[in-house]
Amino acid sequence: MSHHARHVATAATVDETPRRAIRAENLTKTYGAGSTAVHALEDVTFEIPRGELVVMLGPSGSGKTTMLNVIGALDAPTGGSLEVMGTSLSDLDEDERTRYRLSTIGFVFQFFNLVPTLTALENVELLAELTGDHAHRRARQALAQVGLGDRVDHFPGQLSGGEQQRVSIARALVKDVPLLLCDEPTGALDIDTGKHILRVLRDTTDRGHTVLLVTHNSEIARMADRVLRLLDGRLVTDEPNATPLAPEALQW
Ligand SMILES: Nc1ncnc2c1ncn2[C@@H]1O[C@H](COP(=O)(O)OP(=O)(O)O)[C@@H](O)[C@H]1O
Ligand SMILES: [Mg+2]
Repeated sequence: MSHHARHVATAATVDETPRRAIRAENLTKTYGAGSTAVHALEDVTFEIPRGELVVMLGPSGSGKTTMLNVIGALDAPTGGSLEVMGTSLSDLDEDERTRYRLSTIGFVFQFFNLVPTLTALENVELLAELTGDHAHRRARQALAQVGLGDRVDHFPGQLSGGEQQRVSIARALVKDVPLLLCDEPTGALDIDTGKHILRVLRDTTDRGHTVLLVTHNSEIARMADRVLRLLDGRLVTDEPNATPLAPEALQW
């Protein structure tokens, strides 16, 4: 009997933890205090399984960027709890938060945030070096993975917007992190370039990464495995999408 109970407990530990990428429970973020307080996130609870491409929709000011900053440990929540890839963020000290960011999270931003004086390869290497592992080879691999193997020596100013965004995805992927947090990644791109970027992101989930993409563009939700909607800091929808479209089929 006790043997059986132990067996079940072990199986649960092995089975459930790897399947969950993010668990937020009653997550709250308030900026300021008193009459000027802004409730950017209010009592938000959700779970994201590993390997899914999840789109979080919401209008400007609904709390999307705040959510990514809190999940990425760039900002601390005011209340509630957050577990990411098996790590409970409130348990981490400052050094552990830094290590968590480097080993777990890749960020992709609307305006790429590349260093203009470094080549594509150097921009990606910059991040790879922080983890020490064969930075040069891995940076080349990551750039090849996003289809930029022949542009590694170009500077950001010599690349199109879509190519710059692919460099920024390579920069996020070079650390081989399990979770990509993407803040309006197609917001600065035309539709065809945007769809190319969404294809690159979909391919990363096909290789087992988890992608959380926040946007105000509801069309992008049609390619998601799961759609969350934020309104004034509150989660108003959380539903799986049974028939995700290929990025190429989207229109906006
Ligand atoms: N550092 C900050 N200080 C005060 N208020 C902030 C700060 N960052 C965001 N906010 C406010 O929090 C709310 C959510 O903002 P944000 O997360 O940026 O929304 P979104 O990314 O959906 O546009 C907004 O009302 C915004 O003005
Ligand atoms: Mg934002």
